[in-house]
Amino acid sequence: MELLTTTGAASRKTGDCIIVGVYENGHIGVAASNIDSASNGAISKLVRLGDVTGSPGSSILISDLPGVRARRVLIVGLGKKSNFNVSQFRRALGTAAAKIQDSKIREITSYLSLEDVSGTNHYYLARYTIETFCNSLYRFTETKSIKKLRRPALRKFCIATSSRSDAIRVLKGAEHAQAIVAGMSLAKDLGNLPPNVCTPAHLARTAQLIAKKHKSIATRVLGESEIKRLGMNSFLSVTSGSALPAKLIIMQYKGAGKARPLVFVGKGITFDAGGISLKPGPGMDEMKFDMCGAAAVIATMTVVASLKLPINLTVVVPACENLPSGTATRPGDIVTSMSGKTIEILNTDAEGRLILCDALTYARRFKPETIIDVATLTGACVVALGHHRTAVMSRSDDLAGQLTAAGIGADDRAWHMPLADEYAQQLDSNFADFANVGGRDGGAITAACFLSKFTEGLNWAHLDIAGTAWRSGSAKGSTGRPVPLLSEFILRRARAIP
Ligand code: BES
Ligand code: MN
Ligand code: ZN
Repeated sequence: MELLTTTGAASRKTGDCIIVGVYENGHIGVAASNIDSASNGAISKLVRLGDVTGSPGSSILISDLPGVRARRVLIVGLGKKSNFNVSQFRRALGTAAAKIQDSKIREITSYLSLEDVSGTNHYYLARYTIETFCNSLYRFTETKSIKKLRRPALRKFCIATSSRSDAIRVLKGAEHAQAIVAGMSLAKDLGNLPPNVCTPAHLARTAQLIAKKHKSIATRVLGESEIKRLGMNSFLSVTSGSALPAKLIIMQYKGAGKARPLVFVGKGITFDAGGISLKPGPGMDEMKFDMCGAAAVIATMTVVASLKLPINLTVVVPACENLPSGTATRPGDIVTSMSGKTIEILNTDAEGRLILCDALTYARRFKPETIIDVATLTGACVVALGHHRTAVMSRSDDLAGQLTAAGIGADDRAWHMPLADEYAQQLDSNFADFANVGGRDGGAITAACFLSKFTEGLNWAHLDIAGTAWRSGSAKGSTGRPVPLLSEFILRRARAIP
């Protein structure tokens, strides 16, 4: 897709479609007034007729307006002028994107602008615009026999600004958005693939293909014998019921010489049946999404490499299935983790922490400057925060603050939950150093407490994406979250945002 900017008048712009905004109570924006006067008051007439109200969520697509060069004009409601803010702006973008998503429109010029909104800039204006439109075009067709649902991509996207000097920021934002959208699409594809296709080996192959495509990434995949040699018995206890071999995937991107790396660890359970602590049947198919943490960190790696960011990033993904069988781990089994700490596995369904603790211990060899794990870790997180906010837990309020701020910047929000010693007692065990579960209460926090036992001395944060990584119901599918948050966190560190 070609990215362009313009300062020209809306009525003079050629192409498939231009998008203009109209506020409530007949307040017409700059571009809409330009169209209005060029077309002998066509928009004012629609306002008088009540067909254009300017209310949020409303839109109307008109073709062949006299005096207007573009083939179509999409008029989008912006709400009250006095209330217009970043979220109203995003809502208008979403409305516009939804309206054109099943059309033949391939060239768009957006005159929706943030000119009247404080606290943001043209870089984000472009980021949100491109992200919203490109995300709305995502379709998963890989496993359909008829591929016609796949939409042809947009050819040209032009963003209008009032001054030429804004063009550099707009193009930077658009370029970053394209990389983030591509990353989100990869994360969604991996999440949406069925668990008989997206296996641990498939994740490993994907990571290797990415390294083939980006020369700046090196991928290594360890098999079960190496995992055993490393002493990752906690990880191995989870895969012991599965017929598929577990994989430990390591990806390294070097954009900053010898600097200590940022390390992302992603939970890669390609199917979570719960093991011997078997999950109930209804909705169990959704446990194919239990590798969305892995998908997000692998996808963020591609964002970083395609933008050639000046940072060092290492990704570690423990990947396996959690299934019941005669060789599966029993409730009550005790394993010695790679760190040497012993764990009493009281519930085999609390497997995410069992693979992550060994991956976190393994990651120490990279001397991480900061380490962040990303996991669909607990149903309790969904109870606490629902489907809108990812949970952030860290011993460092500073790091947690940077992550929640990145979530706001990227519009991929997170919420800082407490990680305090009081909760850790719930993991006490009579037989091992601690248990892998701490009861129902505060389940998302006790899971983080478990991980914190393996990250002593590290600048570490944990993201629980159980509520945000996928949607259920008729819109069932992976969301690509938290690729935007992670990308924003890195872009800020790399000082790549103008
Ligand atoms: N993958 C699940 C967490 C999950 C459940 C995410 C539902 C999204 C929706 C995880 O492995 C799990 O099963 N956690 C248990 C932990 C419990 C046994 C302490 C849970 O949340 O029920
Ligand atoms: Mn589980
Ligand atoms: Zn799980």
